[in-house]
Amino acid sequence: MSVSTKQRIENKTVTQESLLTPRFYTTNFQEISELDISSNIDELKAIIEEFRIDYNRDHFLRDQEFVKTWDTFDKKTKNIFIEFLERSCTAEFSGFLLYKEISRNLKKTNPLLAEGFSYMSRDEARHAGFLNKAMSDFQISLDLGFLTKTRKYTFFAPKFIFYTTYLSEKIGYWRYITIYRHLEKNPSYRVYPLFRFFESWCQDENRHGDFFAALLKSQKHLLNTWDAKLWCKFFLLSVYATMYLNDHQRKDFYTTIGLDTKKFDQYVIRKTNQSAKTLFPVILDVDHPKFFELLDKCVITNNKLIQIQEKNISEFSKRFEQVPHILSLVFHLGKLFFLPSIENHYIWNEPS
Ligand SMILES: [Fe+2]
Ligand SMILES: [Fe+2]
Repeated sequence: MSVSTKQRIENKTVTQESLLTPRFYTTNFQEISELDISSNIDELKAIIEEFRIDYNRDHFLRDQEFVKTWDTFDKKTKNIFIEFLERSCTAEFSGFLLYKEISRNLKKTNPLLAEGFSYMSRDEARHAGFLNKAMSDFQISLDLGFLTKTRKYTFFAPKFIFYTTYLSEKIGYWRYITIYRHLEKNPSYRVYPLFRFFESWCQDENRHGDFFAALLKSQKHLLNTWDAKLWCKFFLLSVYATMYLNDHQRKDFYTTIGLDTKKFDQYVIRKTNQSAKTLFPVILDVDHPKFFELLDKCVITNNKLIQIQEKNISEFSKRFEQVPHILSLVFHLGKLFFLPSIENHYIWNEPS
C-alpha cells in the first residue's frame, strides 16, 4: 500500500470534510420501531420477499478483467478513479451502517422492518466491499473499521431519513443505469471493468428505493400534509443540488468515461423527479427555464468558494472572503426553492 490507510483517511477528514462529503447518519431507532406499518404491510412484505430471493448473490465476483495492472493509467486518471471509488465506497458503507443499526434496534419490536433493513444492509455491504476491492487495484484501500469509529454521525429524525434515503436510492439507481447504458453504447470509454456490474447493481438500489416508498406510504401523514409537501420539496432540492455541485467539481471523471457532466446530471435529475412523482405530493418543475440556470449559478458560486478554500491564507481570512459567496449560494438555493413546483393531486387528496 503506497499511503498508510489511516493517514490518508485522517488527512481527508481534516482537509476535505465539507457539506458535500458523503455523511454518516444516525436516527431515533425507538421511533422507527414503534411505527404502525399495517396500512401497507402487503407491499412491504412483497418487497422483503424480493430481498430474500437475493438476485445478486453471485453478481459481485471479480473476474479475469480485473487482474490486469492498472498502472497504465496516467497519474491524473488514477487519482480521478481513486476519488470516485473512495466517495462511492464511503456512501455505500454509510448506507450499510445505518441500515444495520436500524435493523439491530428493531429486531424485537418490529421484526418485519428489521428484516427489510437487514437485507438492505447486506446489499450495501456487498457494494462497499466490491468498491473497496476495486480500490486495491490502485494500491489503496479504505480502513472501514477506522472510518466507522472516527467519522462524525449526523442525527436525522426518522421521517427525514425516509425522504432522503428514498431519494438517494432512486438517484443512485438512475446514475448507475445511465452510466451503464452509455458505456454499453460506447464501449471504448469503458476503461475499467467495474462499470460492467452496474446493471444488476442498480436494481438493488431501485428495490431499496421501493422499500422506502412502501414505508412512506404506510405513514400517510408523511405524504399528504402541508408539512410533508414542504419537506419533500426541500429534500428534492437538497439531493439534486448536492449531486449537481458534487459532480461539477469532478467533471474530469465524467469526461474520462465520455460523459458530459451537465447533460448527465440533468438527465438523472429529470428521471429521479419522474420517479418521485409516483410517491411525493409535490415534485420540482425541472423544466422551468430558471431551474437549471439557477443551479448553474450555484456551481459558479461553489467554484469560487473552493478557490478561496484552496488559498494559502489563514482559516479566518478564508471564512471572511467566503461570506458573500455563501450568502449568494443561499440566495440562489432560496430562489430555486420558491420556483413554482408541480403538485401531485392524486396523493395530495388521498385521505389519511
Ligand atoms: Fe448500494
Ligand atoms: Fe441502496
